[in-house]
Amino acid sequence: MKIRMGTRKDIPALAKLISSLAPWADYGINDERAKKILLNMPDKIYVAEKEGELAGFITVRRNGMGEFGAYLRMSAVKESFQKQGSGKALLEHAIRVVKPYARSVFCVCHVENKEACAFVEAFGFSQVGIMQDLYQKGYDEVLYRKQLR
Ligand SMILES: CC(C)(COP(=O)(O)OP(=O)(O)OC[C@H]1O[C@@H](n2cnc3c(N)ncnc32)[C@H](O)[C@@H]1OP(=O)(O)O)[C@@H](O)C(=O)NCCC(=O)NCCS
Repeated sequence: MKIRMGTRKDIPALAKLISSLAPWADYGINDERAKKILLNMPDKIYVAEKEGELAGFITVRRNGMGEFGAYLRMSAVKESFQKQGSGKALLEHAIRVVKPYARSVFCVCHVENKEACAFVEAFGFSQVGIMQDLYQKGYDEVLYRKQLR
């Protein structure tokens, strides 16, 4: 597997991936909205490729939480590539990238996205708290933090 920096050319494939997965589809994020989010985001995007095919991605903003640390806004792996180590490789890469600049790294998972919550907890992220109605009424999100140094 290879991890590389994402480019504008990746945006259509990334938008398709985002809009096909529950956390974003449940918020009504379709292909067009996903493209706009990706294009307007200051975050860096890292892409995982397996056998030349885009397997997944992670977004990294090294000062995304201001003086508190870095923020990983989105991470996703195509269903056909899940549970084969791509998510782990992407998250490890993101942590390596932000570690020199941030004492902590944060991310957010929907409370009912048990797979993603288990995934980040397996990496030593701990719950800071539940943020009620964060993006939409009735949708609560868990704020996670991992201390890096
Ligand atoms: C969450 C997600 C990115 C994980 O990617 P993945 O490539 O399937 O994960 P990996 O195969 O690299 O797993 C890495 C580790 O995470 C843990 N993990 C992964 N999925 C898990 C699950 N369903 N339950 C418990 N632990 C899990 C395991 O500890 C695993 O380590 P192992 O190799 O010792 O088993 C992927 O499932 C996904 O894209 N989900 C949909 C989008 C999403 O919810 N994104 C996060 C919200 S921003």
